[in-house]
Amino acid sequence: MIKVIMDCDPGHDDVFALLTLLAHPEKVDVLGFTTVVGNQTLAKVTDNLLRVLTLIQSDVPVSAGASVHLNGLTYVQPGAHGESGLDGAALPTAKRQVTGIHAVEWIYETLKNSSEKIILIPTGPLTNIAQLLQKYPEIKSKIAYISLMGGSVYRGNVTSQAEFNIWADPEAAKIVFESGLPITMSGLEVCHAASLLHEEVDLFKSEKAVSKMVHGLLGFFNAFAKNLNQPGSPMFDVCPVMHLLYPELFIGEPMKIDIEVNGTHTRGKTVADTRLWADPKETNTFVLMDVDRPAFIQHFIEAVKIIDARLV
Ligand code: BDR
Ligand code: CA
Repeated sequence: MIKVIMDCDPGHDDVFALLTLLAHPEKVDVLGFTTVVGNQTLAKVTDNLLRVLTLIQSDVPVSAGASVHLNGLTYVQPGAHGESGLDGAALPTAKRQVTGIHAVEWIYETLKNSSEKIILIPTGPLTNIAQLLQKYPEIKSKIAYISLMGGSVYRGNVTSQAEFNIWADPEAAKIVFESGLPITMSGLEVCHAASLLHEEVDLFKSEKAVSKMVHGLLGFFNAFAKNLNQPGSPMFDVCPVMHLLYPELFIGEPMKIDIEVNGTHTRGKTVADTRLWADPKETNTFVLMDVDRPAFIQHFIEAVKIIDARLV
């Protein structure tokens, strides 16, 4: 059984990712969710997560983490995710609470007390994970690998060169990418290949609670992508989860990734060595580049149905 901890900032696609993860208890044991400031403030993303978990009747523990990035600042994304961070869906009030333990301490204790190595799935800025590695470097021996959504080989999204999760806290990303831990990176290339087309949004139209929530969230999320002339909405954070469940759907390659923290035009860029003669011994990241889109979307549709069918 694979054991995972997901560190997230919900966020529409963070929700799609956690639904996919929780749909498969036969494959994955989700030990906990931790939250980090990113798409919205820490208070909002944590409340969003608790509300979604209330709706889907999940009791997986939630611990709140960093409310500011390593540089002391925050950058939220009301354009992509709305003022709430989850605009488009009517969610119940949260009937659950956080553990009361800071995310960094909760992840540390969970790793320390585990007899097996655990996979970390960060789908927001890497602030919590960097703080964990800085404060408890010895805990690396308990991390199987990190499968994260962030970065890109070619274009950015929040700037021409940088993707949001890395751009929001490049100092943290640098610590993570230089940690020596195995990293699988779902960057913008694979995320765009995994787009949910605008004409597919209504596949989720239903009176069932989870499908209805997803349909509402996609209504907002896809409208944002449509405004940017994209054919669909990239399923960013779903990629590392789908890769965990169905690795055979993906194509990727090892690369050396450096994080730009100083560039005038390139701060937050994941600098990929794509030279044909790049030294294979220097690679630190397995970069996912493409995916079987129809199969990916089919598995997402199935996951939503599985959680709907489970509700009492
Ligand atoms: C990333 O930023 C957020 O908008 C999404 O949740 C995703 O994690 C994409 O750049
Ligand atoms: Ca996210």
